[in-house]
Amino acid sequence: MVTSPPAMPTKGRVLIIGATGFIGKFVAEESLISAHPTYLLVRPGPLNPSKDAIVKNFQDKGAIVIHGVINNKDFVEKILKEYEIDIVISAIGAKSLLDQLILVEAMKSVKTIKRFLPSEFGHDVYKADPVEPGLTMYKEKRLVRRVVEESGIPYTNICCNSIASWPYYDNCHPSQLPPPLDQLQIYGHGNVKAYFVDGIDIGKFTMKVVDDARTVNKNVHFRPSNNCYSINELASLWEKKIGLTIPRVTISEDDLLAVAAENCIPRSIVASFTHDIFIKGCQVNFNIDGLGDVEISTLYPDEAFRSLEDCFEGFALMIDDKINKGENKITGTKSVVEAVPFTASCGEESPPQKCSNFVVTNY
Ligand SMILES: NC(=O)c1ccc[n+]([C@@H]2O[C@H](COP(=O)([O-])OP(=O)(O)OC[C@H]3O[C@@H](n4cnc5c(N)ncnc54)[C@H](OP(=O)(O)O)[C@@H]3O)[C@@H](O)[C@H]2O)c1
Repeated sequence: MVTSPPAMPTKGRVLIIGATGFIGKFVAEESLISAHPTYLLVRPGPLNPSKDAIVKNFQDKGAIVIHGVINNKDFVEKILKEYEIDIVISAIGAKSLLDQLILVEAMKSVKTIKRFLPSEFGHDVYKADPVEPGLTMYKEKRLVRRVVEESGIPYTNICCNSIASWPYYDNCHPSQLPPPLDQLQIYGHGNVKAYFVDGIDIGKFTMKVVDDARTVNKNVHFRPSNNCYSINELASLWEKKIGLTIPRVTISEDDLLAVAAENCIPRSIVASFTHDIFIKGCQVNFNIDGLGDVEISTLYPDEAFRSLEDCFEGFALMIDDKINKGENKITGTKSVVEAVPFTASCGEESPPQKCSNFVVTNY
């Protein structure tokens, strides 16, 4: 009698929310690479050309695009059923975190979701404690956590710490910018350590945990030992890569708190996180020993993270030309923080305010 080979277990169907965003792009890319049937929920309406290109690129690689929003319970229920979604990953942006409460309601109703990853992708929000206005965002993430925990939907929180790059405190998404050439800002005494993870690795390890039974109802912490640096060490690494010495300027704790207190969004949010990371040590001041916590290297000891040395090598190549010409300024820095006054769109809790003369472009 001829027996057919056992059927290969098919990978769970993944719905990604926020695939046109900064973190969502890395996750969607890896979901496709890892051969998970990948569905992208994309907001309807005209996309700007760069987002349109991102979506087309994912479609070409096999992603199914569904147009809609997560704050429409009936719609979300319908697509979860229709596409038989197993895993939902939310990489929704900071402004829309509470929209996830409706998503959770929809997932609770369909009862078939095997794993939900809420939009975390940063610090452990139960442990980190930034000043305002960053705290408001953490309160929202904490609320989403509590609602998910109570819902009974299996979940995993990704605590991936900082993106591998120079941490510009007045910039939202620094990873596409090389570190500065004109001056390096050092926060406080500069010796508090933090973990830096390349975006591609955030995507790669996120997609590893989504169907790993060891990560059900856990906070998964990304603490690659080769990428734990203080800002002083980061500055030295950059100087070594480019073969130059760059003046260092101290940004004190009070300086950061003053920018946070301006309540100018998003610059003040970034200042409050910078304070929490590089002054208070929120990434390193606790042990991962709770029942609900796991460090990713213990799960996949043979899988390497891209080193920060390598990332900085890449940044050095990006600006090779400038260094050879003896230029000591990076145009990218200028184009991100322009010296034009503007009225900020501030958080819900505060009225719009005039901010100091910076425009922070969310790129
Ligand atoms: N560890 C780090 O260094 C780091 C860095 C950045 C972010 N993060 C975290 O990562 C998460 C994602 O942030 P991000 O900066 O990547 O976000 P982002 O770039 O602002 O992108 C947000 C995405 O969510 C989509 N979206 C927003 N509201 C939606 C809704 N109601 N329905 C469907 N889609 C919706 C947006 O769609 P549109 O394209 O239509 O706008 C976009 O694709 C956040 O939790 C953030 O705190 C961590």
